[in-house]
Amino acid sequence: MNKQIIDAILNAAIKAPSGHNTQPWLFCPCAGGIRVLPDASRRLPRLDPTDRELYISMGCAVENMCIAATQYHLAANAEVDGDGSVRVLFAETGRVEESSLVSVIPLRHTNRNTFDGSGVPGDVIDALSGCVTLLCHNGTPQFDIIADGIREANKVIYGNRQMVGELKEWLRYNRQETNAGADGLGHDVMGLPDMPSWISRAITSVALNAGVQTRSDIKKLYSSPAVAVFSSADDINGRIDCGRRLQRFLLTATLHDVACAFIGQPCEVEWVAAKLAMSLGLPERLQLLVRIGHAAPPAAYSRRRPLGDFWQEGDS
Ligand SMILES: Cc1cc2nc3c(=O)[nH]c(=O)nc-3n(C[C@H](O)[C@H](O)[C@H](O)COP(=O)(O)O)c2cc1C
Repeated sequence: MNKQIIDAILNAAIKAPSGHNTQPWLFCPCAGGIRVLPDASRRLPRLDPTDRELYISMGCAVENMCIAATQYHLAANAEVDGDGSVRVLFAETGRVEESSLVSVIPLRHTNRNTFDGSGVPGDVIDALSGCVTLLCHNGTPQFDIIADGIREANKVIYGNRQMVGELKEWLRYNRQETNAGADGLGHDVMGLPDMPSWISRAITSVALNAGVQTRSDIKKLYSSPAVAVFSSADDINGRIDCGRRLQRFLLTATLHDVACAFIGQPCEVEWVAAKLAMSLGLPERLQLLVRIGHAAPPAAYSRRRPLGDFWQEGDS
């Protein structure tokens, strides 16, 4: 593969979503392809102590690579190794057609706005259903189960100083901070105006409590026509596979102009995730909840670090 193709595939990889926009992946060449490795310096030891979200995020990046390869008619195959890295191997078969999802890789983004309540057409729901474990519809008891999970998880997370401290570490409080590191949650994606950092910090500190967050989260939940539920085996293979399905889901939604936003907290608290999995009748660990719908105000795009930051020379 020439450098232009490698760069195009990596550019697609880094557009993947990641928990708190940590972008926790590294790439290096390997025989027949590119190895994707977890970046241990970007772990979230308090919010994601078992690296669950880290490996789901890696799965999203891997799926983008496989999809991007189709524009060069390359077949891609991902193999998880024992050290938690993934070898993405490419082969010229001459039979691979460009995926319709290639064009929406740069367009996909998280939209945290309250949705307008309008429904998602049945054919789009059908297209999305193939990627998820369960699709819950507004007005069913499943929505109330998810709302309870949000309430319980927010009490745990916002009542834990260390978790809140880690949350704050990844917040970027104004345009200067947002652009400087090109990672974390920028002021614009959180809906904050560009103000002096000390003012934004003061406002955010007041908002970072269980009551305020729960009221906002519940309002946003019930503004959404449906919530996608992802479950998988809770090992590295299961998490990577979940990330790959999640990415296909998000890209398919983008293709159909459907907005997506994550409801991460119930999945981040182990006992809440287990309780929800049981109440929703999931076969495996609850990994993610994603609400879908339509939002009138456009959402800002979060930043990405330059490609060179992720590249490591030498086969591993
Ligand atoms: C595993 C995982 C968990 C996430 N959890 C949350 C969450 O709890 N709340 C949220 O607002 N966004 C969540 N996100 C979305 C990320 O914050 C988002 O992908 C990242 O900031 C990059 O922005 P983008 O998706 O717009 O490219 C999650 C993403 C992933 C992959």
